[in-house]
Amino acid sequence: MQPRVLVTKRVYPEAIEFLTQHAEVDYVSDDDGLSPAELLERARGKNAIVSQLVDKFTRDVIAQLDSSVRIIANVAVGFDNIDVAAASERGILVTNTPDVLTDTTADFAFALLMAAARRVVEAHEFAHSRKWGRWTIDMLVGQDVHHRTLGILGMGRIGQAMARRGTGFAMQVLYHDAVQLPCDAEYSSKERVLQESDFVSLHVPLSEATRHYIGEAELRMMKPSAILINTSRGPVVDEATLVRALREKWIGGAGLDVFENEPRVNPGLLECANVVLAPHIGSASVDTRRGMSMIAVENAVEAIEGRRPKTLLNPGVWDSIASRRGA
Ligand code: GLV
Repeated sequence: MQPRVLVTKRVYPEAIEFLTQHAEVDYVSDDDGLSPAELLERARGKNAIVSQLVDKFTRDVIAQLDSSVRIIANVAVGFDNIDVAAASERGILVTNTPDVLTDTTADFAFALLMAAARRVVEAHEFAHSRKWGRWTIDMLVGQDVHHRTLGILGMGRIGQAMARRGTGFAMQVLYHDAVQLPCDAEYSSKERVLQESDFVSLHVPLSEATRHYIGEAELRMMKPSAILINTSRGPVVDEATLVRALREKWIGGAGLDVFENEPRVNPGLLECANVVLAPHIGSASVDTRRGMSMIAVENAVEAIEGRRPKTLLNPGVWDSIASRRGA
């Protein structure tokens, strides 16, 4: 019997073509996604699940998955939607899609930074509004980016790619992470990054340790002119407090691609002129989204055909599968 794969949401067609060469595919080809109950129902009898960041694999959902499921292959680098520990306990492999999206996401973080600093969205709206009657010396003046200080919180692959962009703009780059890296940026405490940076860009993964990593204390440490950029995950920032910080001008502005309750955007953010908002599109270039789809389905096929998937998040599960096989 052919292995069976569930694809929970629309992906690039090449990915489905590839999968159908290796498995019987149950493809949820629309964009609405599945409720937890529907997900469990559709996952019955499947050997692999190709999931997206909106699919919530909580401990409870994972506990109810059929024992036939060998892998959850997430089409995203972030995997906070999957309880990896619970999956590991059930012997389910979990994979993500790193690397392919690193530069694309850093490009977008830098685009938000530039847009917020130079008021690109306000300028666009003004130029469209037919209100532009005359040129004035201080019309839509913003902040310089070059030669300013960029602070990076979370110096993983995307954080490092952001640092390279900052260096290209002759910025001083400070960073904080749990570990120091050999790189051109200067390692600093989280407090120094917040206090001295003109732009603070968040690149930490979401976990219980990083939920509300930026809250009142952190926002109050930032310069009144500073701009906060978030392309990581919404709950890394305490959004209600960010709204206060923007309204009360504790900070100068924000560029946000991610939100605490996506797809709902906090109404307070919609009222702030000094923010640039995007609907979680950091990795959204055609090549990258296609590449992410392909990596996920390749991981699914590796697992169902008994090979180690390339971008495995819980290698211990593979080791025990391999040792049982060897035994
Ligand atoms: C997108 O947010 C991702 O994690 O890939």
